[in-house]
Formats: sequence, structure tokens, C-alpha cells
Amino acid sequence: MELAAALVDGQLDTLRLFDDGTRYLVCLERTYDPNVKWSDFNHRFDSDSLPCAEPKLLDDAGSRLYLQQAGASAALEALEARLREGHHQLMTLRVEPRLGMRLAIFVHNSTLGRGNGMHALRAGGLRLHHPNADEQEVFADGCNLARAMSYKNAAADLPMGGCKMTLQSSPIPLDDGPRLGFLARCIESARILTGPDMGFTPEHVDALRAQYTLQCTGGNLGPLGPTGIPTAFGVFLAIREAARHTFGSPELTGRTVAVQGLGFVGRPLAEHLATAGAKLVVADIDERAVTRLRELVPNATVVAPEQVLTTPCDVLAPCARGGQLDEATIDRLQCKMVFGAANNPLKASTQQGEINLARRLAKRGILFQIDWLHNTAGVMSGFEEYLRGSEATQEHLRPRLERVCKDGTAEVLRTAAARGITPTEYAYEKIETRLFPRDRTHRNA
Ligand code: PHE
Repeated sequence: MELAAALVDGQLDTLRLFDDGTRYLVCLERTYDPNVKWSDFNHRFDSDSLPCAEPKLLDDAGSRLYLQQAGASAALEALEARLREGHHQLMTLRVEPRLGMRLAIFVHNSTLGRGNGMHALRAGGLRLHHPNADEQEVFADGCNLARAMSYKNAAADLPMGGCKMTLQSSPIPLDDGPRLGFLARCIESARILTGPDMGFTPEHVDALRAQYTLQCTGGNLGPLGPTGIPTAFGVFLAIREAARHTFGSPELTGRTVAVQGLGFVGRPLAEHLATAGAKLVVADIDERAVTRLRELVPNATVVAPEQVLTTPCDVLAPCARGGQLDEATIDRLQCKMVFGAANNPLKASTQQGEINLARRLAKRGILFQIDWLHNTAGVMSGFEEYLRGSEATQEHLRPRLERVCKDGTAEVLRTAAARGITPTEYAYEKIETRLFPRDRTHRNA
């Protein structure tokens, strides 16, 4: 039995898992009535309200007993194992069966956000998944994405911990007050700053900001525009540094770059590369995305989605769904470097798993650094907008973006090479002690 279904059966709506230093505590709750009008969120009630005539809260023992009786112990154990493996701090699952929504908030680490003087302590985007997707697979994606956000925010020097939200739902219409209101309530009660990710668009951010919550940024109407644009620029700068490291020059004229995925980030990246004179090989599962790019870059070579990873090229830039580079794919790559925008391109759920794959890439002579070092400009832009509101400017963002994505990449590639380790190992080593101060978590117990 899935956890979401077990909640619904018991007229419960929230499941929380907290790391108390030695283990995870479970807490089941009922926090709203079936007749609550979510479109009233932040109009007639807010995140401090409990729109519920008979609220309920079960302690750890009571929650575990309930889930056991509901036949969901195996699902709970699988989730706990995942959280433990990634050293996650907490996870909240909220269900709204009448709207067909299940939203999970994965908080990996809050260390850098504590005492930052803001409401949000952690930052991470929201990703949409199919309503009938396997719950554990969605949890795995959320855990991996949240973990990457902790490192990404730290690499960008943001005073924010790392988190990510996954939403299982049918696509959300922009004028759907109840769905947007429910989302806003989940976001505000979690003390997170969120923004676009796959299936949750800049238009959704605009709709939420207009009526329901300001704790999401990166919309089309924001002062800095959609976050895919700076993300793509940051990745472009990193690719130039990788080229400098490998070929002795950052120039991309005549270099072949294979871009997998032409969405909100892949498309602007492809445009930067084309302007810089690179020869493009592109693929997307959506024909329309390919057609749109061909209008801008008519001489881009189009290949089938299943071919793009193994295309012979100088740079492979994964900009689609993550988890595609496992041992078998790595052995078939025909590129000199892998540098893209996709979150978690390696198929691994732990740091060690990623390091193993990074070493395999290095053995094949392929230059790679972990994605969170250079796909970080989107969250930097989102944070800038959160911090400064309408005063946020590109002029302020730009030098920081260059320092993180360009200089940061150059330093990591140089130092890792000098020390004879992979850039990924060096990057983790650099950031880790900031996220896990020695005496704070069971990680060091
Ligand atoms: N979704 C972005 C990422 O994966 C993060 C983001 C968070 C963007 C908050 C805007 C606001 O990096």
C-alpha cells in the first residue's frame, strides 16, 4: 500500500518524517476539513490557520502502528531507508484527494539557512510527476534533487539550505484557484523558496505570486525573468572553462556539442553555443521543441532522442531528465566532456555512487564535474528576486554568476587535476563540511 493511499484511508492529510539525530520520527496529521476552500488561502486564512474542526496528530508510535495496520509499513521503511542513505533532514507528504494532488517536500539540509533573517530557510524547485507514477520512484527523484540543492546553494554561496518538492497531479491550469491555493499553503508552511522545474513553469510562478504566495520566484513577470535563461548562461560559461582546460582555449568555434533536451534551459543553452560558433547536434522527445530550435539554428543536426547520448562529439550537454548516465551508458559515450544543465545526470542516489560513476568517466578520459557546481544560476536568480523583489537586477546577479559558474569551474578543474582526483570528489570535499558541521548529525556518529 502506498503511503498517500494509507493517509487518505484514515482521513489524514499529512505525513512527516524528522531526523531527531539518531533516527526518523514519524508524525501523521489531519490539518484540514474536506470542505476547505483552498482558493481562500492567504485571503481568508493563512499558513498559521488550522481549517479543521477535528484536527489530529499521532506520535511516532501511533503513526507507525496506524501505517502498519493500513499495510503501508514496507512503503514507510523504503522511504526511511532512502532518507537515511542521503542524510536528509526531513520530509513532508501532503495529500489532497479531492484535487488529486500529492505533494512531497524533501528537506535535505538547513544548516546554511538558519539565522538568515528570511522566512525561507531552504531553496529548491517544484517538479511535476504523473498522478499515477510509482510513489517510491517519485520519492527517489525528490530525495536526489533535494540533496543536489543543498550542495548547489552552498556552491553558489546562498544562505539557504537545500530542498525540493515533487507534485503528483495532472497538469495545473493557470486559473485553478483551489490547486494553486493548496500548493501555496504547502509552500508557505514548509519555509521554503521554490521555483520552476519540469512541469512547473514560469507561468505557474506568476499565477501563484499574483494571488497566493511570494515564496516562489522565477516567473516571466519577475524582474529577472524565467530562471532557465541564467541557468543556461552559467552552464555555457562552465563549458567554455571545460574547453579551456581540455583544449587550451575556451573558444567553441567548430566544436561539436550534443544537447539532449531543448526545454527551458536546453534551448537557451543551444542558442549560446550556436552564437559561439559550435556545431550543434540536438534531440528532444517533443518534436515541437526541435522545430522551434531549427527555426533559430537552421544548421543544427537533429538526431533521435535515444541516439544523442552516444553521438560522437566534443561536449555532451544533458539538459533533460536526470539519471541517464549509468555504467553501461558511460562505457558507450563518444564525447570528450560531459557538461550540461540537467540535475543529477548520474544514475546514483548517494555521493559515493556519484563518485564511482565520476571515476568511471575519468577512466575513459571524459572530463566531468558534478552538475550542481555549474547549473546553479537559476536558483541564484530566484534567490536574488526573493531577496530584493522588484529591485533585483541583472547587473547585481551577473558578476556573482560569473564568479560561481566560470571561476568556480576553473578552480575546481585545476585543483582536481593537480591533486589527481576527479572534480566531483574535490567539489564534495570542499562543500561537505559546511553542510555537516562535525557535532551536528548522526552522519558523524
Ligand atoms: N529549479 C531550480 C534548480 O533546479 C531551483 C530554483 C529554486 C529556481 C528557487 C528558482 C527558485 O536549480
